[in-house]
Amino acid sequence: MLRIVALTDERAAYDIDRAAAEADAPDIPFSSFETYCTRLRHPWPGNEAEQYLAVHDGTPAGHLELYLPQLDNLANVIVELFVHPDHRRRGTGRALLAHAVRRATELGRRHLISEAVAADAFARAAGAIPALLEIRSRLDITGPLPDDSPAAAGYRLVRWTDEAPEELLDDIGYLDSRLNEDAPTGELAVESEKIDADRVRAAEETLRLRRRTTFHTGAVHEQSGRLVAWTMIASENDTGWHAWQNITIVDPDHRGHGLGLTIKNHNLRYARTARPGLRAIDTSNAVENEHMLRINQAMGFRPVDRWTQWQLTV
Ligand SMILES: CC(C)(COP(=O)(O)OP(=O)(O)OC[C@H]1O[C@@H](n2cnc3c(N)ncnc32)[C@H](O)[C@@H]1OP(=O)(O)O)[C@@H](O)C(=O)NCCC(=O)NCCS
Repeated sequence: MLRIVALTDERAAYDIDRAAAEADAPDIPFSSFETYCTRLRHPWPGNEAEQYLAVHDGTPAGHLELYLPQLDNLANVIVELFVHPDHRRRGTGRALLAHAVRRATELGRRHLISEAVAADAFARAAGAIPALLEIRSRLDITGPLPDDSPAAAGYRLVRWTDEAPEELLDDIGYLDSRLNEDAPTGELAVESEKIDADRVRAAEETLRLRRRTTFHTGAVHEQSGRLVAWTMIASENDTGWHAWQNITIVDPDHRGHGLGLTIKNHNLRYARTARPGLRAIDTSNAVENEHMLRINQAMGFRPVDRWTQWQLTV
């Protein structure tokens, strides 16, 4: 018999998620149990989370996480759904998804969005559409790093670890809010996030609680004093050999000066200097994000696999 219960057993969720993730993308290091638990306990600022376990004849078989944005994207639910590889094709995934749909309906939300690397048959069978195709690429940074030439005239580089200087917070919020507008989002029903200085600080605190270190480089437009370009690399503290290249954004008024490549190259060097054990950096980009893919290619990133953001509208 299959039951769906509110999650209390963090170890069971960890074992399921880890086995599922390692089956699909074994080259991405999975968090330690301690770090994983911080993720369950500290959702991103502006989101509420619900956690469920699917128990099959007394054995934990699947884990469902629902993230419910509270400040924007109010029609959406971000879904993470994992079934242990030993328990597949017995309807557990379908039952967990049905539960997610039920909760979405109860909460008046219309779009369930979930990212996966190898769930095409499952997602299509559920009636979801492939809303955005992404490429994950990896950079080996054990060798020589790309050239870190200075920023274009009129701009000065700034960098920080974990906590941004107070005077940049508003600009970081502005740039971060633009991401859903500026980066390709395909058919995804997403709107700009509302991010202000307080939410930037709250995100920093969440990253700290989640035991990650973040390295940032930005470009300040000297004439206006505004931060107009920003990039960030994040690494879990107990998986120091690996990191994610997360955000890169250049304000539309300041594009065409090579700032994107410049800040990314400087940030690589900054992260590697701070973390000498860092060997690999992964990044994920929409297939149609030609600009960013070209920058990544120039930096030495090489494609690894393709991910899909699936969207189910109820
Ligand atoms: C995708 C995943 C959740 C499916 O879990 P599951 O419990 O095996 O799925 P179900 O048994 O409920 O399958 C439901 C239907 O999906 C389809 N399906 C699921 N896995 C399939 C596979 N490997 N090949 C072909 N069809 C598949 C089938 O139509 C299946 O119905 P059927 O068994 O009656 O033919 C599981 O493989 C998983 O955890 N993958 C890694 C994480 C992930 O990708 N999550 C999905 C996010 S969208």
